[in-house]
Amino acid sequence: MEANKVASPKFDGKDSYDLTPREIVEALDRYIIGQQAAKRAVAIALRNRWRRQQLDEDLRDEVMPKNIIMIGPTGVGKTEIARRIAKLARAPFLKVEASKFTEVGYVGRDVESMVRDLVELGINLVKGEAEERVESRAREIAEERVLDQLEDKVSERAPLDSRETSRKTFIVSNEGIVQSDDAPRAKRDVLRMRLKAGEFDEEYVEIEITDSHNPVIEIFSGQQGMEEMDLGNMLGNMFPKRRKRKRVKVKDALTMLMKEEASRLVDMDQITQEALHRTQQSGIIFLDELDKIAGRESKHGPDVSREGVQRDLLPIVEGSSVSTKYGVVKTDHILFIAAGAFHVSKPSDLIPELQGRFPIRVELESLTQDDFQRILTEPKNSLTRQYIALLRTEGLDIAFDDEAIAMIAEMAFRVNENLENIGARRLHTIMEKVFETLSFDAPELGGSAVGITADYVRERLEGILKDEDLSRYIL
Ligand SMILES: Nc1ncnc2c1ncn2[C@@H]1O[C@H](COP(=O)(O)OP(=O)(O)OP(=O)(O)O)[C@@H](O)[C@H]1O
Ligand SMILES: [Mg+2]
Repeated sequence: MEANKVASPKFDGKDSYDLTPREIVEALDRYIIGQQAAKRAVAIALRNRWRRQQLDEDLRDEVMPKNIIMIGPTGVGKTEIARRIAKLARAPFLKVEASKFTEVGYVGRDVESMVRDLVELGINLVKGEAEERVESRAREIAEERVLDQLEDKVSERAPLDSRETSRKTFIVSNEGIVQSDDAPRAKRDVLRMRLKAGEFDEEYVEIEITDSHNPVIEIFSGQQGMEEMDLGNMLGNMFPKRRKRKRVKVKDALTMLMKEEASRLVDMDQITQEALHRTQQSGIIFLDELDKIAGRESKHGPDVSREGVQRDLLPIVEGSSVSTKYGVVKTDHILFIAAGAFHVSKPSDLIPELQGRFPIRVELESLTQDDFQRILTEPKNSLTRQYIALLRTEGLDIAFDDEAIAMIAEMAFRVNENLENIGARRLHTIMEKVFETLSFDAPELGGSAVGITADYVRERLEGILKDEDLSRYIL
């Protein structure tokens, strides 16, 4: 499953679900330069999910999502917008490539599998939230389980006695100062304090933990195509869960046991219900590379199944029921955002029924030299920040002159014009070239500072740019 993880739902403390269109665009602005039309369309679509939730139930069912197609040349931010939206929306979000699917009946992934994947993501999302809620309880139980082990170990070894007695008098608990005649309990309290302080982190304990690897079998069936079935889940508690004894460091033991206790504390039935609900009501599927399945009637020989895939997509986009291992999912209210470069084929090359199901079209613009300059510096994860951070790990301090940035932007723009326009991805190839020597030598240069000047950039790139054939290969 090639899906983006759904990341932290929080944006500046405000629940992302309540973000207004303006706030969504602002959040996107932190990472994506320009492309306001696409940002606005996506923001409106997300806000409409929220608006719909506020309606009375009978009207709510009438409001269908307005699916979007983002059209634009390669490397201008289509996928990037989707990736950022995924992090903002507190909704199950799946990104898939349309070109990955094959028509039902052919070997490969059928389109319904995207709904099954989406539910899976919904389950993970809701489960993650639930586990977060029980986290502190899970930590307590995990600590007690580690303490059981440590206690045995310490009393076996018994070298800590003197320290414990001397410490005992200092323990202040909720009930006051721990009494010295309560020896075993006091000892455990001391151990607990020391455990919390991380004193035992590097020591080894033996723990018993549920083996998480359930046997997985793949089932082939004509209708569903290929689906993975989790044997452990299917057979439920018919087999006792396998337990495994492991010798691990205390800090790792705590993490593992916490995870185990957290999943024990949450109610899986409830999670499944909630996940199904969220998938149906607010799930988003990002269908990338839609243009790759456009083009009607096998223009190109072997692609006979393209139109078939489009036909298979129709009911899912329109609304149908897909059975998954967690239950039936109705796709009526799932939002579809499609994207594609559409420079060979056009949206009008999609079969008309599918075109009609994506009423909103937004175009992303080609990026200008000025955009490049901003992309290099403004986003929170900009390339210049990335290079600075990477080389700092070697003790090298990098600083960029403004002119150097302008020069990199200009070079990228020129190469795009002269060779092939690959959008902002060109910045990656240019930067990599500019930094080649520094990246290689960095460990030996540790402790020094390097200023990246326009001259330095020119020097690094000149030879390559002069020779068009060479730049075709290198940049
Ligand atoms: N407008 C932009 N602002 C900031 N970064 C951008 C922008 N456009 C592209 N990038 C950067 O360029 C790279 C490629 O962008 P992206 O994956 O969004 O391309 P795309 O539009 O989906 O292209 P393709 O049609 O080839 O899939 C990413 O690393 C992204 O961060
Ligand atoms: Mg893309």
